[in-house]
Amino acid sequence: MSGTWEKHDMGFLAGRRLRRPRMAGWSRDLVRETTLAPSDFIWPIFVVDGQNERQAVGSMPGVERISIDLAVEAAKQASAEGIPALALFPNTDPSKRTEGGEEAFNRDNLVCRALSAIKNAVPEIGLVADVALDPYTSHGHDGVMEGEEILNDETVEILVKQALVQAHSGADVIAPSDMMDGRVAAIRAALDANGLEKTIVLSYAAKYASAFYGPFREAVGSGARLKGSKLTYQMDPANHEDAVREVGQDIAEGADWIMVKPGLPYLDICRQIKDRFDIPVFAYQVSGEYAMIAIAGQAGAIDREAAMAESLMAFKRAGCSGILTYFALEMARKLNA
Ligand code: PBG
Repeated sequence: MSGTWEKHDMGFLAGRRLRRPRMAGWSRDLVRETTLAPSDFIWPIFVVDGQNERQAVGSMPGVERISIDLAVEAAKQASAEGIPALALFPNTDPSKRTEGGEEAFNRDNLVCRALSAIKNAVPEIGLVADVALDPYTSHGHDGVMEGEEILNDETVEILVKQALVQAHSGADVIAPSDMMDGRVAAIRAALDANGLEKTIVLSYAAKYASAFYGPFREAVGSGARLKGSKLTYQMDPANHEDAVREVGQDIAEGADWIMVKPGLPYLDICRQIKDRFDIPVFAYQVSGEYAMIAIAGQAGAIDREAAMAESLMAFKRAGCSGILTYFALEMARKLNA
């Protein structure tokens, strides 16, 4: 008979019925520990030169590179769905990619033009600008090189100039993704010295040398150029203590927020950082993670929408304040429907 064994001599806890609150939708709703809302998302957008230009990104079905006029429209849609912020990534014309990545600090470069156009048209949306040289270098690395080596301090000097043109163009958040030592302190000091003390620094503190960035490199056009790996600056996927050191260092240097990247394979890192430091943590559900869900969905192997929602909820459960995700608009629409 139901209810008899639970009070039996195994004691009350041993016989507890954990399924009881799962039986009805209303009680599942009442005890849900984590929620997902449109305000949790930062939407990454790839921009290209041109007018009314859309280019499919082959490895990311459903994602396009778009020209600035269309990015302005996308920003309006995002804002209407309650998405707080966009992150912009330029696909720089190959003729502007150089050994030294000088286009990165051209005040009139593609990303700066996109930042100011969106800021003017949709002032309420937050704009995140990535700081790293890979969209601008002929070799596809995030820093400048001497022989095979990525030079740290020389790169930081360029990153500071890049951060300043982006912030002057309307970026509310400067997000260094380059993993050079000392760049957060240098960027913070330069922002403050230039009247940009309100600009937020979101440091990609725990950024791993990952295979999951492949589709992104196609989207920004750096993949085919990339010589060698990024293992001398991005972190070894085998490590977690190194992530704690990176985060502690970036907080000491003045980071306002911290990012963990990639996302799902590194949820343990999100949770460790959240428990260990008193700072908002963001995760980047990167291009390869998006591709896995989108392509498996297309193949009928998994339910795209359900996998999207589950993967995004996992970041909240792991303690993240927000998620950079290519699903941002689709998920916000689903949540608002
Ligand atoms: C640039 C950068 C990368 C990504 C974001 N910023 C690529 C890389 O480090 O090679 C990847 C994002 C994604 O895969 O969605 N430094």
